[in-house]
Amino acid sequence: MVRSVLFSRFTDKFFAGFKNRSCLAEFRQFTSTTFPELAEFGNISSHEDLHKFSIQRPDKFWSVLARSRLKWETDFHTPMDCDFRTGKFNWFLGGKLNISVNCVDRWAEVDPERIALVWEKDEQGEVENVSYSQLQDMVGRIANTLKQAGVGVGDVVALYMPISPVAVASMLATARIGAVHTVVFAGFSAEALAARVEDSGAKVLITADESVRGGRRTPLKRTVDTALEKCETVKTVLVMRRTGAEIKMKPNRDEWLDECMLRSSPICAPKSMNSEDPLFLLYTSGSTGKPKGVSHSSAGYLLYAMVTMKHAFDYKQGELFGCVADIGWITGHSYVVYGPLANGGTSLLFESTPVYPDPGRYWEMVERLKINHFYGAPTALRLLIGYGDEYVTKYDRSSIRKLGSVGEPLNQEAWHWFHSVVGEKRCDIVDTWWQTETGGVAISPRPSAPNAPLSPGKPQRPMFGMNPVLLDEKGEEVQGLGVSGSLCLATPWPGIARTLHGDHQRFVQTYFSAYPGYYFTGDGAFRDEKGDYQITGRMDDVINVTGHRLGTAEVEDVLTEHDNVAEAAVVGYPHEVKGEGVYAYVILKQGVNLDEENIRNELKLLVKSKISGFAIPEFILFTPGLPKTRSGKIMRRILRKIAANQMDDLGDISTLAEPEIVETIIQKHQKK
Ligand code: PRX
Repeated sequence: MVRSVLFSRFTDKFFAGFKNRSCLAEFRQFTSTTFPELAEFGNISSHEDLHKFSIQRPDKFWSVLARSRLKWETDFHTPMDCDFRTGKFNWFLGGKLNISVNCVDRWAEVDPERIALVWEKDEQGEVENVSYSQLQDMVGRIANTLKQAGVGVGDVVALYMPISPVAVASMLATARIGAVHTVVFAGFSAEALAARVEDSGAKVLITADESVRGGRRTPLKRTVDTALEKCETVKTVLVMRRTGAEIKMKPNRDEWLDECMLRSSPICAPKSMNSEDPLFLLYTSGSTGKPKGVSHSSAGYLLYAMVTMKHAFDYKQGELFGCVADIGWITGHSYVVYGPLANGGTSLLFESTPVYPDPGRYWEMVERLKINHFYGAPTALRLLIGYGDEYVTKYDRSSIRKLGSVGEPLNQEAWHWFHSVVGEKRCDIVDTWWQTETGGVAISPRPSAPNAPLSPGKPQRPMFGMNPVLLDEKGEEVQGLGVSGSLCLATPWPGIARTLHGDHQRFVQTYFSAYPGYYFTGDGAFRDEKGDYQITGRMDDVINVTGHRLGTAEVEDVLTEHDNVAEAAVVGYPHEVKGEGVYAYVILKQGVNLDEENIRNELKLLVKSKISGFAIPEFILFTPGLPKTRSGKIMRRILRKIAANQMDDLGDISTLAEPEIVETIIQKHQKK
């Protein structure tokens, strides 16, 4: 109370100095709702000032927000201790807190009936609401179940389950007892699941009997059984009943989660954790075959997810935040679970697909549930454009305030369709650029900033605390406007990943060695005449298929497992709906005389069974050789150009060991 009186006196005096009254009014309205801590930041008179301050004084900016927006058990003494050169990131040292208290208990205490989760099930119209007090009950029961299963501080719990309130409660329950969760997207194959579980060393795995999506059931528990034949770390499997299908339960290992929850108390004392204790691991693709377990911290991650959720989308309590991502990806972690709940918000859990039962699913749901923020993926928008506008326009979308997009570039056509058809030219488009490693939105138009015009196809402006720079091949910063370079981030922020599980060396090597003193994102970017950023694509061997990140080396490793394959090179190529498609060039072993179509089908099945359906190559081209340098390095640049039908623009091929192979490949590609 005393603080707010002091604050209003300070701001009155501060604002009295303004000359431009309308600008002041807008800024004042913005800051009073989004940054009530403004007084602490000193003489800030515009949104740009605030951003500048956040990168000049990250310690002050983030520690003020950490104290006002998180609930601490013990205050921290050191705001930050970070070093890009060694990949060391420590935030809020000395502080202690519990993430589930911050996401659930503090809201359940003040407003137990407030809705935390709205679960839109696959079947249209079937909705389940979960209040904060109900979520608290679930979290407590699952936490006690995990304790019963021997899970303690620092132990890893793997989740392989469809999105549901139980899945969200399971994530929060691991946090409640100081354990670490690793959610594996439930579309991954048994092999992919096994590799991730094994690397994480998970003791307990939570799954469901089946998942339901687009009216189809997928036997998740069966996949888990196959995966666990190969890895021994998991001692207990907890099974959520989703469809009630009959499944095999392995004695002494498998238990029904609902039965365990009924037997357990809803009261579980939260474990007091250090700010820097890991909250979760999330596996993502890199440029080698082995997925990396990106490790995120507790306090820093949560603060970054909640602050970006509030400010990128201008979220106001009471609104329904509709992020349609799955919890198996970082978007689901930050903007379905942690960001919305830490803000005391109401979050949608969307179990279905955009085209089930028909392509009006999203917008029918928007009308029925009165969704205020809709956050989706460009690939889904491109798919929906093809079905025609009437699937959108027949539903009332007046509840929507902001439309968000993530995962890949939002091309002009999709941007305009989203803006005009879906948003009736009324809603801001929030094209958010970020990564699993950044923990939350890093570049985004920030519609909560007054006077911020939108620029189609560009994420535009850095979030608070974000300091993007463009670097050239020599590692020099490219200054000015209308310039391109490697996109790096030059100021540490609390949401940055802390390490790669079990391999800090790889963490340093991957992100901090190419440009010492910076975090290298792996993306290229263009800074336009207005200073807005546009992402030009990945600069490494990672591709983006239907918004899913995929290492080309992962697919190559699988293809070369086939008995008849000698070598494979995989590249991405522009695909109208998927963003990028997978194109595989394959050399068969000498003397293989089998039907090419058969091998092609076998290879596709192999990729599906070893990785997932989204990784299946669209094209498999059999070739007698690959374009290699004299030292044996495959020139993927040439393969990418051929796959994209840009044969006129192959560049210099004279340095190849056998330049004539290029012509052979082109001919085969044109015949395919
Ligand atoms: O290439 C960028 C692309 O997705 C990559 C990150 O993938 P992932 O870690 O799976 O996280 C996806 C969800 C945050 C980035 O390096 N990407 C993400 N958002 C955008 C984007 N490319 C262009 N525009 C975006 N808005």
